Amino acid sequence: MTHSQPFDVAIIGGGIAGLSVALRLPEHVRVALFTKGQLGESNTRYAQGGLAVALGDDDNPELHLQDTLAAGAGLCDEDAVRILVEQAPGAVRWLIEMGVQFDRAHPGEDVHTTPDGLLLGREGAHCRWRVLHAGGDATGAEIERALTTAIQARSSIELYEDTFVQHLIMRDGRCVGLQATHRNGETFSVEARSVVLANGGAGGLWLHTSNPAGATADGLALAWQAGAALTDLEFMQFHPTVLVVDGASHLISEAVRGEGAYLRNHAGERFMPRYSPQEELAPRDVVARAILNEMLIEQTDCQYLDLRHLPAEKMRARFPTISAFCQQYGLDLATDLLPIAPAAHYCMGGVLVDTYGHTTVDGLYAVGEVACTGVHGANRLASNSLLEGLVYGIRIADHLVQTDGTESMRSSSLYRSAHVLTYNDALCAVDVLPSGLLHDPSTAQVRRTVRQLMWQYVSLCRDQEGLLEAQCQIQQLRAALFLADEQDTFTLETLNMLLVSELVITAALERRESRGSHWRLDYQNSDAYLATRHLAFVPLHSDP
Ligand code: SIN
Repeated sequence: MTHSQPFDVAIIGGGIAGLSVALRLPEHVRVALFTKGQLGESNTRYAQGGLAVALGDDDNPELHLQDTLAAGAGLCDEDAVRILVEQAPGAVRWLIEMGVQFDRAHPGEDVHTTPDGLLLGREGAHCRWRVLHAGGDATGAEIERALTTAIQARSSIELYEDTFVQHLIMRDGRCVGLQATHRNGETFSVEARSVVLANGGAGGLWLHTSNPAGATADGLALAWQAGAALTDLEFMQFHPTVLVVDGASHLISEAVRGEGAYLRNHAGERFMPRYSPQEELAPRDVVARAILNEMLIEQTDCQYLDLRHLPAEKMRARFPTISAFCQQYGLDLATDLLPIAPAAHYCMGGVLVDTYGHTTVDGLYAVGEVACTGVHGANRLASNSLLEGLVYGIRIADHLVQTDGTESMRSSSLYRSAHVLTYNDALCAVDVLPSGLLHDPSTAQVRRTVRQLMWQYVSLCRDQEGLLEAQCQIQQLRAALFLADEQDTFTLETLNMLLVSELVITAALERRESRGSHWRLDYQNSDAYLATRHLAFVPLHSDP
């Protein structure tokens, strides 16, 4: 069944990127907005630290650019970063107009602020206090609150909640709409002049992640199946400090280290000075690998975050969300060491786009975590992700109203610096399944196994042997699950996870060097050719 009149723009995803596109489009543009859960439930909602923008008296976009390029380990696209940092102040003003309330200083407080009183936080690898936040450590929740309220007041936006997009509809090589299934089982199609992917999030591919359960890489799979090029998939960021207690994993914002918290090993040593002159505020990949190294040396499954030397009441007020969930586990920020370990956090690669969000497929656009503009390079600077969704969301919306919205990428510096490979995602025959799995495994078993394999072989440190093992087992799981009778949403999501895992592994195998978040134990040095190349994959489909 095809729903109603064609839309001008169909947007898939309800985080800051998708909502910014939707709200920035003028009201005469007919918009359909798809979220696979309830509106407001997205990766954005769980963002704690905040949104980076050079607004301090001692700051400017050039300094923000230099920090972003340095963290990105040589692979940032400078044009895309320049747009990000220069358009950030205007984009933040628009966000405030949309109703977002960032934290402000109280009179007489000795704190870092913008000239008009917005509080600024500090995070790793930033040379200035530069991070706007809300509700202390509930920045993403405040952004979602404000933007979803604004969406609900817009009659030009038709909202499809609890609706899973199964695939994109292609006609004569152009993306012209999508097919989706509502939670009630109804399957329907929607036509649109432009389709915008804004459903990022792939943390769910790994056993330990800071992401919510919905982060199953659906956007990457949709783009791939529609024929779009993907790039930089080997670069997955692992957040250094996720609370590990009672099997739970809760993000502990980098802003906590920005306020002066230390990392300690089980011997009580503050170990970061041994790894970097930037100590606890080194780039994320450096801190995450240092923590892992200490865990391996000590044969432990965590290290500790220590706030005991910081003023207790100030920390509880600055980090109310973190303080509350620590308390649930009997931990007090003021008196206890907090057990932490790295966990999968943010996918720096994605659908290859230019700076207007064009993919390599006509009529298909991508923005936010699902897209790769090249702003993050091989390691994202903290708090640049909400900013990217916002700046590029606004930019794409403005571009869509100035054009007919059916184009693809013509040229971009990111594409020009890509090493392009074709990849055949054909399914192999299923002879043997990974040990412990029956010939007809349940989808839940398959999902658990892929997450374990990705954690074991495709995490902070990789090598060829482990990657090939994971590749082989994941291809077999994919083939087995493809044959399953029941193709419900849970199965389709799991197939997306398997497909994207296979692509991540392929990219990780191809990058025979270590750079940023991609650390190869068997190629620990930088490679002169790869140092300036993005690995882009173009699909060669031979399965239905
Ligand atoms: C954090 O608060 O540490 C996460 C923010 C980010 O990933 O940029």
